[in-house]
Amino acid sequence: MTGRQHGVRVRAPGKINLSLRVGPTRPDGYHALSTVFQAVSIAEEVVALPGEGLRLVVRNDEHGAVPTDASNLAIRAALALADHAEVPADVHLTVTKRVPVAGGMAGGSADAAATLVACDALWGTNLSRDELVEIGARLGADVPFCLLGQTAVGTGRGDELTPAMSKGEYHWALAVRNHGLSTPEVFATYDELGVRARWDAKREADIDLLLALRSGDPEAVGAALRNDLQHAAITLVPQLGEIIAVARRCGATGVVVSGSGPTVAALARNRHHALVIAAELTASGLVDAALTAVGPVPGARVVRGE
Ligand code: C5P
Repeated sequence: MTGRQHGVRVRAPGKINLSLRVGPTRPDGYHALSTVFQAVSIAEEVVALPGEGLRLVVRNDEHGAVPTDASNLAIRAALALADHAEVPADVHLTVTKRVPVAGGMAGGSADAAATLVACDALWGTNLSRDELVEIGARLGADVPFCLLGQTAVGTGRGDELTPAMSKGEYHWALAVRNHGLSTPEVFATYDELGVRARWDAKREADIDLLLALRSGDPEAVGAALRNDLQHAAITLVPQLGEIIAVARRCGATGVVVSGSGPTVAALARNRHHALVIAAELTASGLVDAALTAVGPVPGARVVRGE
């Protein structure tokens, strides 16, 4: 086992929940989930350089919303890996944010996933993907999916993954708001709103979505998008309802709040249509930024010189 002399650059994707169904609260305080994730082309980048001690620089976080203390997920990931592999946590990390911060697209989890892969390569610890997934799951429920990427069904806390078949490319327009939402607050609001359907019935309901993904038809996938947390997110940020209406008027095949929000994801018929929706979202004045993305894409991986 030898570590690298030079740095390692890793990219890890953000995600959109094509479906997110929330079940009962579990003894550990988490909610049982049944979700379908798609990894998309907006990715976090982590560069790990050899160096003494653990240092972190965060780039592209214009609003200073990302903590740089011990609560930062990249720092926690590096420490967890060092602890597991019994090596010193010597690494200088640079995280470049591209996924909206606190946006419901797993940006923090992508930082953790990228850091695990980067430090594993830098330190020459050569853990298996399964070991990285196990360490990642302890850091956050979305970290395993950011490692796996592509399309997957998540159960348990959303961290027990089964890869799903998906044909073709899906083009998205994403409405981003600078003021993020706290995931625990959105789940708490969901609980307060008290809207419940039978959990066993809910879990079977994604068959339409999974069949649509296999057909590669954005109309069918758009019609099957859903998110149980959407009502809670709109309750906390009422403008999300207006943003959804704008995307619908532009002919999006489906529109959904991603995860706990506030990012709104609008599925387009093709790349050009995604650009048109993004332009209309920008013109609406309701969003701080409108992005486009395509999915599915692979999970956290080492990239060279790109
Ligand atoms: O795992 P992660 O740190 O991303 O979760 C943040 C918070 O979101 C949890 O502490 C919990 O309040 C809520 N959550 C939940 N059920 C899940 C996932 C997250 O209640 N399955």
